[in-house]
Amino acid sequence: MEEKLKKIKEKVEIQISQVEEINSLEKLKSEILGRKGELTQILKNLKSYDESQRPKIGKAVNDLKRLIENKIEEKKQVLKNQELNKRLESEEKVDFSLPVKEELGSLHPITIVQREIEEIFRTMGFTVEDGNEVETEYNNFEAVNVPKYHPARDMQDTYWLENGQLLKTQTSAAQNRIMKKYGAPLKAIFPGRCFRNEDLDASHENTFFQLEGMMIDKDISVANLIYFMKTTLSEIFKKDLRVRLRPGFFPFVEPGFELDVSCMYCEGKGCKVCKQAGWIELCPCGLIHPKVLKMGGIDSEKYSGFAFGLGLSRLAMMKYGITDLRLLNSGDLRVLKQIGIK
Ligand code: DAH
Repeated sequence: MEEKLKKIKEKVEIQISQVEEINSLEKLKSEILGRKGELTQILKNLKSYDESQRPKIGKAVNDLKRLIENKIEEKKQVLKNQELNKRLESEEKVDFSLPVKEELGSLHPITIVQREIEEIFRTMGFTVEDGNEVETEYNNFEAVNVPKYHPARDMQDTYWLENGQLLKTQTSAAQNRIMKKYGAPLKAIFPGRCFRNEDLDASHENTFFQLEGMMIDKDISVANLIYFMKTTLSEIFKKDLRVRLRPGFFPFVEPGFELDVSCMYCEGKGCKVCKQAGWIELCPCGLIHPKVLKMGGIDSEKYSGFAFGLGLSRLAMMKYGITDLRLLNSGDLRVLKQIGIK
């Protein structure tokens, strides 16, 4: 028997060394070690051997099986490496000067709208600031006058990290940091990605974009806010828009407003987009709450200011006629084609 196993071992070693492809190796493996393989047959027929010999034979066969398995595994690695090297070599031969066949990407609709708006604000002397996506609870809530047990927190449930930080729910989270960085007077916008723990539907996503703005100086009043918003929004929509304010509550502004613009599609006459109202609700805003100024290190006796929050995702949807917010995060290139960006 010893002799027989030795022969099998030698034969198999030669077979393994001759294999050149992983597929053939797999085939060989099942031939050698499978049900019909010689070794399995020996084990099956153990009964035909002398009883005293059986354990010894069984062990020898199993040892050999294991040895063969290891050899096959080793060979597999060698073949894999060879294949990889071959691929790398052939890819090096790619001619990079050939024209690109694959489709090129384009800027995301939100990025396009964001850049347009940034440009408009830059021409008015605003700086464009970066906000963090991971924020402290203080910046996202407390510093904008939403203390721990304030009901406004309910509407902005978000994702919390184990270290107590959170994914910011609003671009307002950057207000405090920016006030501390520049002091007053101050003119800044800060676009950014926001997150909320939402039930998803066509107008709610767990990830969306806002663009926030702040202007702080001496004697800033609601009149400044109205004039400023009217001019800026007319510039963004490239149409002379009228604006109106309705009272709105946000803990970080006092007074706070919902700002509507006259419908840019029907010019106020009433259409499907404005639901026959002639107005479109566009932008919450207000005069920055003195407490928020103070927390930002700004003397609220000397300075006042306004803040506003534009929904960037919403603006992109309006600009490109997208009716489902979820498409913006879908990564589906067909969306770009459909809205005519590509
Ligand atoms: N942060 C608010 C939100 O996400 C939007 C907002 C409202 C921003 C009023 C402002 C503001 O700056 O003045 O719901």
